[in-house]
Amino acid sequence: MRKKIVSPAVILLMLFLNVFSYAQEGKEDKVKKEEKPPIVPNMKVQHMPFKIGQCEICHTEKDGNKYALKQEPPDLCYMCHERKDTKSRVHGPIAAGMCTACHDPHQSNTMRMLKADSVNELCFMCHMDKKQQFTSKPYMHPPVKDQCINCHDPHQEDHRYRLFADRRFDLCVSCHADKKEWVNKVKNKHGAIFIKDRCLNCHDPHASENEKFLRKPTAMDVCLTCHNKELKREEDGTVLMNMKKHLDENPDWHGPIQWGDCAMCHNPHGSDNFRMLKLPFPETFYASFNINRYICFMCHETERFTEPLTKTATNFRNGEVNLHYVHVNNKKGRTCRACHDWHATKDTPHHIRKYMKFGKIKAPLRYIPTKTGGSCAPMCHPRRYYDRENPVINKR
Ligand code: HEC
Ligand code: HEC
Ligand code: HEC
Ligand code: HEC
Ligand code: HEC
Ligand code: HEC
Ligand code: HEC
Ligand code: HEC
Ligand code: HEC
Ligand code: HEC
Ligand code: HEC
Repeated sequence: MRKKIVSPAVILLMLFLNVFSYAQEGKEDKVKKEEKPPIVPNMKVQHMPFKIGQCEICHTEKDGNKYALKQEPPDLCYMCHERKDTKSRVHGPIAAGMCTACHDPHQSNTMRMLKADSVNELCFMCHMDKKQQFTSKPYMHPPVKDQCINCHDPHQEDHRYRLFADRRFDLCVSCHADKKEWVNKVKNKHGAIFIKDRCLNCHDPHASENEKFLRKPTAMDVCLTCHNKELKREEDGTVLMNMKKHLDENPDWHGPIQWGDCAMCHNPHGSDNFRMLKLPFPETFYASFNINRYICFMCHETERFTEPLTKTATNFRNGEVNLHYVHVNNKKGRTCRACHDWHATKDTPHHIRKYMKFGKIKAPLRYIPTKTGGSCAPMCHPRRYYDRENPVINKR
C-alpha cells in the first residue's frame, strides 16, 4: 500500500513546467549548456522535482547566489506536501521546521532520501542514548531491530510518543493479533492485562536483558511486582493471597518456583482454567478423580494415584496400601490442596502444608514425619499413622 505523497495536481503542474522549461531552453540554450550543474542526479533515490531538473522550483538567483532558496523549509516543502504538523503530537525537529535534518532535498541512497544509511541509524543520530540502551541488550524486539517506524511515526501522530496506536495494548495487538483474541476470549482473564500499562506492565517494547523482553529477570520477579499484596478479583470478589509475603515466609519453594517460573503453571495472559492455569486443576476441596484434571501431572507421574497397591509409586503408603490412591482417587477424592502447598512451605518435608482450608475454616494438619512413614491429625480424622516397612493398623 503506497501512501499518496503529493497530490496528482502538483505532479501535473511540475510536468507542465518541465515541458515549458525545455521550450525555454531551446531559445537561450548555449549559455546554460556550458555550465555544469553543481549537483547531478546519481543516487538511488531522487526527489522527483530534482530528478526532472526543476531546480528553479526551489531555487532562485539572489545576491549572486545562483542557488538561493525561494523559501526556507518547511514552507518550501509544504508548497507541494501536506503539512506534517497538524496532529496533536509533533516530533521535535518537525515542530522546529527542520525537514532537512532527516531528508536530503535532492537525493540519497536510502529510501525517502533519508540522510542516514537506514531508518534506525537516522533515529540514532539524535537519540544516541537509545542506540546504547537498545543495542547493548541481548534481546531486541524484532520490529525495533527492523525499523523504528514500524511503531513510531517520524513526523506526527495523535497517540503518545507518536505511536501508531495506544502504546499499552492496541499497538501490541496490531501485530500480535492472536493475543488480542486470546485475552478477550478466555474465561479467566488476568487483571494485569487490564490495569495501568497493560502489556507494558510486564514487557519492554524495545529491548531487554531478559527473554520475551520481560521487565524483570524472571517471570516470578514480574509477578511479584503486583502480587506483593492481597489482590481482589472484580468478577467474584475473591481476595487473592499476598504471594510475595507467602514466599518470603516459607523458604521451601516448589521446584518451578525455585526456577523463578510461575508461568510454567499459570498463563500470564489468562486462560479458561481455574486461576489461569495452563492445564486444569480442581477448584474445590473434593473432586472426583480424573488424571486429566490435574496440572500436576505435567511433571509428576500418575502411577502415584492410579495403583491401589504399590511398593514404589509413592512413599505415602502404609505397607503396600497407597494412601495417595486412598485419599485422591475417589468419587469424592481430596484434591492435592488438602495436604500440599505447591507454592511454598516451611519446616515440613514434601511441601506438606501446616493448615488446610476447608470452607472458611483454617485447620492444622499436624503432620509428623518419621523415617519410614509419618502421621497426621487433621480435622478429618484422629491421628493416624502410616509406615512403609511395618504397616500400622489404625483404630477406626
Ligand atoms: C524540492 C526543492 C529543491 C529542488 C527541486 C532542488 N533543490 Fe537544491 N536545495 C534545496 C534545499 C532545501 C537546499 C538547502 C539544503 C540544506 O540546507 O541542507 C538546497 C541546496 C542546494 C545547493 C547548495 C546551496 C548552498 O549554497 O548551500 C545546491 C548547489 C543546490 N541545492 C543545487 C540544486 C540543483 C542543481 C538542483 C536541480 C538539479 C536543485 N538544487 C534542486 C532544495 C531543492
Ligand atoms: C515542487 C513540489 C515539491 C516540493 C517543493 C517538495 N517536494 Fe518532495 N516530492 C515531490 C514529488 C512530486 C514527489 C514524488 C511523489 C511520488 O512519488 O508520489 C516528492 C517526494 C518526496 C519524498 C518521498 C521520496 C520517495 O522516494 O518516496 C520526500 C521524503 C520528500 N518529497 C520530501 C520533501 C522535502 C523535505 C521537501 C522540502 C525540502 C520537499 N519534498 C519539497 C514534490 C515536491
Ligand atoms: C526525524 C526525521 C524526519 C524529519 C525531521 C522529517 N522527516 Fe519526513 N520522513 C522521515 C522518515 C523516516 C520517513 C519515512 C516514513 C515512511 O516511509 O513511512 C519520512 C517520509 C516522508 C515523506 C514521504 C512519506 C509521507 O509521509 O508522506 C515525506 C513527503 C516527508 N517525509 C516530508 C517531510 C517534511 C515536509 C518534513 C518537514 C516538515 C519532514 N519530512 C521531516 C523522517 C523525517
Ligand atoms: C534531528 C534529530 C532527531 C532525529 C533524527 C530523530 N529525533 Fe526523535 N526527537 C528529537 C527531539 C529534539 C525530540 C524532543 C525531545 C524531547 O521532547 O525530549 C525527539 C523526541 C522523540 C520521541 C519522544 C520522546 C519523549 O520522551 O517524549 C520519540 C519517541 C522519538 N523522538 C522517536 C524518534 C524516531 C523513531 C526517530 C527516527 C525515525 C527519531 N526520533 C529521529 C530529535 C530527533
Ligand atoms: C514495537 C513497537 C516499537 C518500535 C518498533 C519502537 N518503539 Fe519506541 N516505543 C514503543 C512504545 C510502546 C513506547 C512507550 C513506552 C512506555 O510507555 O514505556 C515507546 C517509547 C519510545 C521513546 C520514548 C520513551 C523512552 O523510552 O524514552 C523513544 C525515545 C523511543 N520509543 C524510541 C524508539 C526508537 C529510536 C526506535 C527504533 C530503534 C523505537 N522506539 C522503536 C514502541 C516501539
Ligand atoms: C510491528 C509489529 C509488532 C508490534 C507492534 C509488536 N510486536 Fe512483538 N513481535 C513482533 C514480531 C515480528 C516478533 C517476532 C516473531 C514472533 O515471535 O512473533 C515479536 C515478538 C514479540 C515477543 C517475543 C515472542 C517470543 O516468542 O519470543 C514478545 C514478548 C512481544 N513481541 C511483545 C510485544 C509487545 C508487548 C508489544 C507492544 C508494546 C509488541 N510486541 C508489539 C512484531 C510486533
Ligand atoms: C503479567 C505479565 C504479563 C502481561 C501483562 C503480558 N505478558 Fe506477555 N508474557 C509474559 C510472560 C511471563 C511470558 C513468558 C511466558 C511463558 O514462558 O510461557 C510472556 C510471553 C509473551 C509472548 C511470547 C510467548 C507467547 O505466549 O506467545 C508474547 C508474544 C507476549 N507475551 C505478548 C504479550 C502481549 C501482546 C501482551 C498484552 C496483551 C502481554 N504479553 C501481556 C507476561 C506478561
Ligand atoms: C500489573 C500487576 C500484575 C502482575 C505483574 C501480575 N498480576 Fe496476577 N493479578 C493481578 C490482578 C490485579 C489480579 C486480580 C484481578 C483479576 O485477575 O481478576 C491478578 C490475578 C491473578 C491470579 C488469579 C486469577 C484468577 O483467575 O483467579 C493469578 C493466578 C495470578 N494473578 C498470577 C500471576 C502470575 C503468575 C503473574 C506473573 C506471570 C502475575 N499474576 C503478574 C495483577 C498482576
Ligand atoms: C506448580 C504449579 C504452580 C506454580 C509454579 C505456581 N502456581 Fe500459583 N497456583 C497454582 C494452583 C494449582 C493454584 C490454585 C490453588 C488453590 O486454589 O488452592 C494457584 C493459585 C495461585 C494464586 C491464587 C491464590 C489464592 O489466594 O487463591 C496466585 C495469586 C498464584 N497462584 C500466583 C502464583 C505466583 C506469583 C507464582 C510464582 C511465584 C505461582 N503462582 C506459581 C499452581 C502454581
Ligand atoms: C491426604 C493428604 C495428601 C493428598 C491429598 C495428596 N498428598 Fe501428596 N503426599 C502426602 C504425604 C503425607 C506425602 C509424603 C509421603 C512420605 O514421604 O512419607 C506426599 C508426597 C507426595 C509427593 C512426593 C513423592 C511421593 O509420592 O512420595 C508428591 C510428588 C505428591 N505427594 C504429589 C501429590 C499430588 C500431585 C497430589 C494431588 C493429585 C497429592 N500429592 C495429594 C499427602 C497427600
Ligand atoms: C513444572 C513442573 C511441575 C509441576 C507442574 C508440578 N510440580 Fe511438583 N515438583 C516439581 C519439581 C521439579 C519438584 C522437586 C523439587 C521440589 O521438591 O520442590 C517437585 C516436587 C513436588 C513435591 C515434593 C516431592 C518430594 O519428594 O518431597 C510435591 C508434594 C509436589 N511437587 C506437588 C505438586 C503438586 C500438588 C502439583 C500440582 C498442583 C505439582 N507438584 C506440579 C515440578 C513440578
